[in-house]
Amino acid sequence: MNMATGDIRSNKVIMKEFPKVELHRHLEGTFHLPTLHRIAMQNGLPYTDDMDAFKSAVQFPKDSEPDFLTFLSKFKNDWYRSHQDVHDIVYDSVRHFSDDGLFYIELRFSPEHFAFHNDFDRMEITRIVIDAANAAAAEANVLIRYLVTFNRGKQNQYEMIDLYRTIRGLAIPEIVGIDLAGDETQYPPDQFTEFFRTVKEDGVYGTTIHAGEVSPAEQVWESIDRLHAGRIGHGTSTIDDEALQKRLIDEGIVLEQCITSNYQTGSWVDEQNHPLGRLYRSGVPVTINSDDPTIQDTDLTDDYIKACSYFDLSFDDLEKLNLIAIEGAFLPDREKSELRKKYLAAVKQFKDRFLVD
Ligand code: ADE
Ligand code: ZN
Repeated sequence: MNMATGDIRSNKVIMKEFPKVELHRHLEGTFHLPTLHRIAMQNGLPYTDDMDAFKSAVQFPKDSEPDFLTFLSKFKNDWYRSHQDVHDIVYDSVRHFSDDGLFYIELRFSPEHFAFHNDFDRMEITRIVIDAANAAAAEANVLIRYLVTFNRGKQNQYEMIDLYRTIRGLAIPEIVGIDLAGDETQYPPDQFTEFFRTVKEDGVYGTTIHAGEVSPAEQVWESIDRLHAGRIGHGTSTIDDEALQKRLIDEGIVLEQCITSNYQTGSWVDEQNHPLGRLYRSGVPVTINSDDPTIQDTDLTDDYIKACSYFDLSFDDLEKLNLIAIEGAFLPDREKSELRKKYLAAVKQFKDRFLVD
């Protein structure tokens, strides 16, 4: 199949339509700006009513050097003052997921983030987030599942276990995994072994750990060996360690990589030489993800266009990367094979529309 390209891989309007499976995106970093602005104004938060100035204030600064802690400092948890605020920001954010051609997403969120400032009941907040996101995803025709994020700097592992048990008790079937995020430089994996032993023993959820983002490959090993990670968030330092790459290949441990985010956080300095292309060609299971698109002032489609341009990926490569994502999804095998079938049909439709024989 030839591409009717001149080259459509850099055509944003068309690339938006390419069906995408995304395993790594934070709800806290993908907020709908106009809704957040309205909430900020309504709640008397100290921001200007000028939208452009507001945008600059809440996004990663355009004039900043790449920096992990500056990036993390953009996750504010004091916007919301009512359950309605939480509902509105979640609903409006997820409603726009179809703009990116999302086909299936495992969206991660931190109940603590949405509940902390007002000390809302964590169970209630979790239900509000899931109900609002489910309704919006149905409207946007996006299949959605959820990962619950625990933030390294916000709770110790015993507090995490308590919250985890509360959430597990809700038995919400769309929650399929647990994520560990936050500052890996100050809070390495060995501080969370009890928590992830509990998660593993329960056997209810998949586990993904942010690791090797701004830490060496050793933290990826530790996340696998001691935290039982089934997937790794970022893992850019994996490129330095061939034995680790072999382990990921042998055990099908998927790397959720995020090109734009990795540049802004300083995880990877030379974007065009990001490890994703080399790891993919070595057979390491890698996937393309957006991480925090609103904070980054990008979208997932931008990361697809970058991946095509930097690593000369074809549409067949993109299809393979998405099949890797489906394989790594925290879904039962039967649901994965159903998803794979539907996904391949959607890609065929895309190819029939935009590529010529
Ligand atoms: N939370 C949101 N984005 C993150 C990132 N890139 N690293 C760690 N924690 C995060
Ligand atoms: Zn992340």
